[in-house]
Amino acid sequence: AATGRGFAHAKAILLGEHAVVYGSPAVALPIPSLRVEATARRIDGASVLDTEISLGPLDASDPLGTTVLETLAHVGAAPAGVEVVVRGTLPIGRGLGSSAAAANAIVDAVADLHGVALDDADRFELVQRGERVAHGTPSGLDARATSSSTPILFTAGRVEHPPIRFGGSFVVADTGARGSTRKAVADVRAFVEVHPERGRALLAELERLTVAGVADLAADRRDDLGTRMNAAQVVLDELGAGHPAITALIAVAAANGALGAKLTGGGQGGCIITLAADPASARRISQALLEAGALGTWTIDAEDYA
Ligand code: MEV
Repeated sequence: AATGRGFAHAKAILLGEHAVVYGSPAVALPIPSLRVEATARRIDGASVLDTEISLGPLDASDPLGTTVLETLAHVGAAPAGVEVVVRGTLPIGRGLGSSAAAANAIVDAVADLHGVALDDADRFELVQRGERVAHGTPSGLDARATSSSTPILFTAGRVEHPPIRFGGSFVVADTGARGSTRKAVADVRAFVEVHPERGRALLAELERLTVAGVADLAADRRDDLGTRMNAAQVVLDELGAGHPAITALIAVAAANGALGAKLTGGGQGGCIITLAADPASARRISQALLEAGALGTWTIDAEDYA
């Protein structure tokens, strides 16, 4: 092709973040309305990567630069002579999977330019190489969720698509506080090392809540799912993934009728995810969160996956 193209989208983790790093299951919801597109074309001279936050020659110490170089090597192309442009509506660095989404789009665009169709396993491995530069020890959940069109249950690298019979809405809101996934994952690890017994008990509790939450989603038990989200937040707070801005927005959601609310992703800032009983309630909660200072809100309904 003269121009290679790739697409991916945001994700929000419903239950299981952090515990997933230790092999427990996690559930992630794709957010198809928040998209990233990458285009790749041939140019003369050194390769260039153009994203919303950087423009310049390929840098192997940069996660997305790594992604381009690894994909070029995978398809047997030279490291020079390609321009990759990444654009989208997905906010960057908010715990919505922007790095993995951009990487998925880039891998597909570069492979497409060279006429190579990748299978899921190859795409995943290429995305994970960049994610390791970004986060250290990524579970792979973001890499899988940002390229799936339906919710995933992710366990130790294995992907399943759980049944969803869900009539409520999820509202994702950005606290505006900047959280680093790398730091949050390192802080949780430090907690588990310093308090091994308590740490293991908390991770086991997150696993129990995730397994129960999957059953709630399948049976459309909204109240139970909300209760489990709240319980997961208590555990994530104790593990060190909380933040005052998260606590504040969760209180606003609860006061406006949310059935449950918790951080989503790495935490220590970033976004929260709340559960609303129905679309009208979701609109009310979203409005209240924006009035309380959330930088943005996004709603996810079961129809997004129909
Ligand atoms: C980040 O979106 C989710 C974490 O569980 C880290 C990971 O899965 O690699 C915090």
